Amino acid sequence: MSLKRIAVMTSGGDAPGMNAALRAVVRTALYHGLEVYGIHRGYAGLLRREIEPLTSLSVGGIINRGGTILRTARSEEFKTPQGMQTAVQVLNEFAIEALVIIGGDGSMRGGVELSRLCDVKIMGLPGTIDNDIPGTDYSIGFDTAVNTALEAIDKVRDTAYSHERVFVIEVMGRHKGFIALEVGLAGGAEAILIPEVPYDMVDLLERLHDSYHRGKHSSIIVVAEGAARAEDVKKFLQEHTPYHLRALVLGHMQRGGAPTAFDRVLATQLGVHAVQRLLDGHTNEMVGVEGGRLVSVPIEYIQTATKTIDLRKLEIATMMAI
Ligand code: F6P
Repeated sequence: MSLKRIAVMTSGGDAPGMNAALRAVVRTALYHGLEVYGIHRGYAGLLRREIEPLTSLSVGGIINRGGTILRTARSEEFKTPQGMQTAVQVLNEFAIEALVIIGGDGSMRGGVELSRLCDVKIMGLPGTIDNDIPGTDYSIGFDTAVNTALEAIDKVRDTAYSHERVFVIEVMGRHKGFIALEVGLAGGAEAILIPEVPYDMVDLLERLHDSYHRGKHSSIIVVAEGAARAEDVKKFLQEHTPYHLRALVLGHMQRGGAPTAFDRVLATQLGVHAVQRLLDGHTNEMVGVEGGRLVSVPIEYIQTATKTIDLRKLEIATMMAI
């Protein structure tokens, strides 16, 4: 039986490029004669029936906008058996045959649960600045977040040099260090602390001393929030060194702003691919990009696999810091 009506939502932490993905999903679906419904505020909005039809115009002028026009939320209620049951009921009430979920790890897990409970065809689309979802090399928003953090670090570097200071800069990444590693390498960090690799504060101290004695009087240390808090690292180093230290938490600014060209193109390709897979009869998958090719994996894959970080990049960063 061919598809007639699909729904789309953005869920979890927002990521630059979610709007571009939404636009691509809606326009591809309309192009193929489907009806499209937008669900506001992710799973929370689904439970509250915050659902409305979307037209091509609804997604006009948003390819360049950060955030998500559908808004987003994290929902604890959805995770309860009652919440799940309501979600299925609402999807059936609105005669939704397929649901495209644009979001991160938690949102994909929600998709897995739904796929087990109902016949609605689930299609996940990875959107998170953390880039920690297995099954895709890149998730929407990562490139923009890295460039936003890099711009901030470049600016801090100017003042670090002028005042001969050491800055400990905390970037996002609750469980993984993808942002920290990328931005640390691109920003010429003295050291990069990520959750995947145990670090030794005494070793960090020695590295700082060494570089000071080589004549380097300003440094940037990048830490992923999941590895350490900038303030704690600063405090430790301050207690053991005479250097001028400052801590900086970049925080949610990393989630905002216009998506880069890379994220817009990725989001558009993934949006088109997601709808195309549904039209071709596939279901309960997550789309992604691997080695430059559009791919898809069974959505359960995100529960069993873990995305590994390229530790060679960390070695390179250490080598560059001599
Ligand atoms: O998952 C994306 C992310 O930005 C993480 O890097 C961060 O830890 C978390 O969301 C912050 O969540 P919230 O917006 O709920 O504070």
